[in-house]
Amino acid sequence: MYNGHQMTDTSKIQEVRAVLTERLNTLKNKQDILKSVELKALYEELKGLPAEDKGAYGKAVNDLRMELTTAAQAGLAEANELPFIDVTAPFDANVKQKPRPLGPEAGSVHPLMKEQDLIIDIFNRMGFVTIESRQIDDDYHMFESLNFPADHPARDDYDTFTTTEGFIAPAHTSTMQNRVLKMYKENLAKGEPIAVLYPGRVYRNEDIDVTHEHTFYQYEGMVVGKGINVGNLIATLRAFMSEYFGQELKAKLQPFYFPFTEPSFEFAIERPEILRKGDTEADMWLELLGCGMVHPNVLKMAGVDPEVYSGFAWGGGLERLVLMKYGIEDIRHFEAAKLDFLRQFS
Ligand code: DAH
Repeated sequence: MYNGHQMTDTSKIQEVRAVLTERLNTLKNKQDILKSVELKALYEELKGLPAEDKGAYGKAVNDLRMELTTAAQAGLAEANELPFIDVTAPFDANVKQKPRPLGPEAGSVHPLMKEQDLIIDIFNRMGFVTIESRQIDDDYHMFESLNFPADHPARDDYDTFTTTEGFIAPAHTSTMQNRVLKMYKENLAKGEPIAVLYPGRVYRNEDIDVTHEHTFYQYEGMVVGKGINVGNLIATLRAFMSEYFGQELKAKLQPFYFPFTEPSFEFAIERPEILRKGDTEADMWLELLGCGMVHPNVLKMAGVDPEVYSGFAWGGGLERLVLMKYGIEDIRHFEAAKLDFLRQFS
């Protein structure tokens, strides 16, 4: 049966097929071919056809749609087989000759971590165990367990960052004291002392300048046992400093205040030879850290009886030691990820 109308329309479908098949090659997103105006026009046309023509014409248009769908999916699969391009690669991923990846020998230990390792090593040889301090904490460990009464003005000296849920980026490693005491108090029952070093990273809401950073490190430690006294505190810290600076050093204590120690001190050493540049007698002493005898309330809150046991603790800034040792002029270099600075220590 000859049907002029249907003949014309079928040839139109052929025409659209040719146009769309060619366009498919140029499309980035192959699926877009199914949204093309030409295909839509064919469906529009279908609506206006007399009922007897609709069946055959509709089938032909649907066949074309199926064909394009399959072709689009094949194109998609092909695109997926293309070599994977790492858009974060620090080189042009399309060049043939790929640069060699950097080997581990290209990196180096950060100067602060190098120095921290040295400090850990000295205290380990003195019988201390080491645990790293935490970088997120709570009010109990930051203040309460350290004998800071609520609303006590001393809290203002430790202004740091808090989350909306009330977690705290610790302003000092002393947040570990309560944990360390609880963790090791079985030692005491066995007649052994607690001797723990807990270095780590701390945070403060500081106005940043050459000597102040919002992020820095402390090396803190504690010794608790029967009959531990201020003499043990001086001897331990003096032995550490002498070993660290490679020279027998004089030390002295100056009175200070911390809520978690009683009495509290500032520990100073005579300026080591390597740091002397014809200094006057006035700046012969270097104040290096805070320390004291652990407050009875701090012991009590960790379940250690202050009537039986006593101890000392200290906390010092790691950067201060490293700045002095290497004559670095700006504390901000440490966290700046400047390669030309870091390479000097590799
Ligand atoms: N946490 C003090 C600070 O950052 C330093 C300190 C003082 C630590 C006395 C101690 C200590 O363990 O006993 O300023």
